[in-house]
Amino acid sequence: MIEAKVSDILNRYARDESSLIAVLQDLQEEYSYLPREALEQISKEMNVPLSRILSLATFFKAFSLKPKGKHPINVCLGTACHVRGAQLILEKFERELGIKTGETTQDLLFSLEAVRCLGCCGLAPVVMVGEEVHGKVTQTKVPAIIKKYKK
Ligand code: FES
Repeated sequence: MIEAKVSDILNRYARDESSLIAVLQDLQEEYSYLPREALEQISKEMNVPLSRILSLATFFKAFSLKPKGKHPINVCLGTACHVRGAQLILEKFERELGIKTGETTQDLLFSLEAVRCLGCCGLAPVVMVGEEVHGKVTQTKVPAIIKKYKK
């Protein structure tokens, strides 16, 4: 399945290193991360060493080598949110989800990240889940936010 999908992506481009970023971008869009077996196939078919692909994938922030959760949670730690207790909210998410910042839950439902200023400081502290903004978040609201996306 993954092999056919990767072939499909590869067929869109010239099979040389100049297309590598475009191929990785399509792969990232398809799976929300870069699966290892897909990278091995790309390495073989494009004749680019896997180490070269991995170093590109680690260099660009847009790429992820680990699966991301279906609902990415971004907790803002920008100044306005920080002074209103954002760090404690982030820690509450870690405890509730049983993961550390930067990790994904085993059921692949949630991944947790800390970010800098989401651009709506008036609502501080702010948490984004996917495209949805949650403002004036408190530690006690965290379990309900998670529950909302578990359905
Ligand atoms: S500092 Fe958090 S939204 Fe601006």
